Amino acid sequence: MSRIEALMRKMSLTEKLGQLTMTASRYATTGPIIAGDSTQAIKDGTIGNLLNMVGADHVHDMQRLAVEESRLGIPLLIGFDVVHGHRTLFPIPLAEASLFDPETWALTARESAREAAADGLAMTFAPMLDVSRDPRWGRSAEGPGEDPWLAARFAEAKVRGFQGNDLAASDALAATAKHFCAYGAVTAGRDYASVDISERTLHEVHLPSFAAAVAAGVAAVMPAFTDLAGVPMTANGALLRGWLRRKLGFDGVIVSDYNAIAELIHHGIAADLPQAATLALQAGVDIDMMADAYRRGLPTALDRGWVSSMQIDAAVRRVLTLKERLGLFDDPYRRGAAPETAATLASRRQLARVVGSRAVVMLKNERGVLPLAEGPARLAVIGPLADASSEMRGPWWGAAAPEGQVTVASALREMLSESRVLHAAGVEIDGDDMSGVAAALDVCSRAAAILLCLGEAATMSGEAASRAHLGLPGRQREFAEAVFERAKRLRKPVIVILFSGRPLAVPWLGDKSDAMLAAWFLGSESGYAIGDIILGRVSPSGRSPVSWPRATGQVPIFFGQRPTGRPANPDDHFTSKYLDVPNEPLFSFGHGLTYGRFSYSNLRVPRDGVAERDTIAVRVDVTNDGTRAAEETVFLFTHDKLASVSRPVLELKGFGKIHLNPGETGTVTLMLPATELRFLGPDLEPVFEPGEVEILVGPCANRTQLLVSSIHLSHAVKS
Ligand code: NOJ
Repeated sequence: MSRIEALMRKMSLTEKLGQLTMTASRYATTGPIIAGDSTQAIKDGTIGNLLNMVGADHVHDMQRLAVEESRLGIPLLIGFDVVHGHRTLFPIPLAEASLFDPETWALTARESAREAAADGLAMTFAPMLDVSRDPRWGRSAEGPGEDPWLAARFAEAKVRGFQGNDLAASDALAATAKHFCAYGAVTAGRDYASVDISERTLHEVHLPSFAAAVAAGVAAVMPAFTDLAGVPMTANGALLRGWLRRKLGFDGVIVSDYNAIAELIHHGIAADLPQAATLALQAGVDIDMMADAYRRGLPTALDRGWVSSMQIDAAVRRVLTLKERLGLFDDPYRRGAAPETAATLASRRQLARVVGSRAVVMLKNERGVLPLAEGPARLAVIGPLADASSEMRGPWWGAAAPEGQVTVASALREMLSESRVLHAAGVEIDGDDMSGVAAALDVCSRAAAILLCLGEAATMSGEAASRAHLGLPGRQREFAEAVFERAKRLRKPVIVILFSGRPLAVPWLGDKSDAMLAAWFLGSESGYAIGDIILGRVSPSGRSPVSWPRATGQVPIFFGQRPTGRPANPDDHFTSKYLDVPNEPLFSFGHGLTYGRFSYSNLRVPRDGVAERDTIAVRVDVTNDGTRAAEETVFLFTHDKLASVSRPVLELKGFGKIHLNPGETGTVTLMLPATELRFLGPDLEPVFEPGEVEILVGPCANRTQLLVSSIHLSHAVKS
């Protein structure tokens, strides 16, 4: 008999419910309820899983209680939010998405897993895979941006990275695809609010990243806090049991979000804990994180015949199976057995620096003001984010110490020299005090160029951090206007370094700055990563994974819109446009300048008909007409102009990269499996329709910058 079946025979109901319970420890807080001491409950076998515990010693102490002092000796499953690093922080996921590089996405997840596993952990509540088209929603920072195809590539890379080849390895973590699903579509961008979208949008936009995570073998899935058209995801049997388990064949663990089962009462679909627990279990939720609804509610539900012991057993088996797959039964102390070496930690910081510089998106660079010459001139490094170490962490800082991050000011002091960097904060990130402005302006007068570091605090994005205004908080705009005014008189360039967990609506900054970098939050090595770009040691290559609005009123904003029956026409009043702002974003999806200057030519696609089983090679020549070597990211979009269902004006289907020296030309080949041209027909079943499909290739989702050709799909071939 298998180990799991042998255990199942011995377990009491209380012990089984313990395996379905996950409780927070006292080491980190990520939710509203602070749990008490779990020691006795672990020994009693009534708590089988923990979250928010870090440190190999602590983890092993707890594991020892479970394995050596509980009746059945079942090891604990211990999880933590390792979202963009553990102690070493990488760029926030939205920033990492800017790399358009699956290998690197996997690599940072691999390194995060190694670091977290060395801390004793076996599970992460990541990757976050919610597509977000509304930057008011603060959790946009945690995910891969606005596009479903990109999100799917991000999903598979992250799962591969966190889990490695062998889930039982001492450096592997079980990944959790979250938050299932459509959490990014919360009403008006307000966190935890209701979601109500069409079936088509659900399937075309919000489910593909989860399908990709399941195909990549993700160990766990977390339902979103939110409801979908009235059915909270924690109780959504149609999507959890129906789509995820039955349709996709997902047989891993479903772990609720923090207290989400009890919140079914607030949602208004459960009267009490027994009913909430019943709804969640029946929908397919295996582990109850922090609601204590399974332990307190399921015995009553069982007595009343609302749930069966078979349903409970099935959930327990899945939890035990995950523990077994993680190797926890064989050796619960494998993770965290040996501390990592200083060399490993140093090379991880180096990776954070390289990835950080590649995540920077250069939004603007007038007259080639960047890179700055490395000569003797002094730099004014000003603004509330110029020297704010803890802010550099971004919204999910894992177990990173507040002061461990390198700021722009401190990096430049080291990269140039102490005497060349003049620093003043000017104003606070979000305060009223303007008394520091004069000193900052004085610093501007004494420097050759001004680096103006503005933006959001780390806690203004992430969970429970929605914003109705997408401008700069506090008095930063007034401060910046004063700096621009002074700089104009002094004829000195102002380079804005913008920190944020979302695209901000700051057209005035775009107008007035000489150069502007989206620095997101880049983690532990932020300052070096930005310094490398500013000084030209690295040529910028990041591309925005989101559209940047000009005004908050444009959101939700994304390139993959459907055509309208009345396309915008300035000469025709009754067309689809705003009276007060252009339709177009300030910066398009995919936008990002480099220190090179690229032109595209000679787009080639197959001339014969394309059948469903074919793979299409799309080729384009790219030339670097600039004076510096740089890497260009090339995007492949399609548009099905005539179909049974109106298709988006652009659909992302691929991307590639090419590094070119000045004057050099190269060819980029993008492979497009024709199955990617299937779409959901009128009845939401996949169809492959014959006819013309436009192929568009270029540097971003701004149609005016794309080369266009077309292919012809031949009649459907049954696969
Ligand atoms: C709530 C968040 O929604 C989720 O993403 C996270 O994993 C849990 N808290 C645990 O910290």
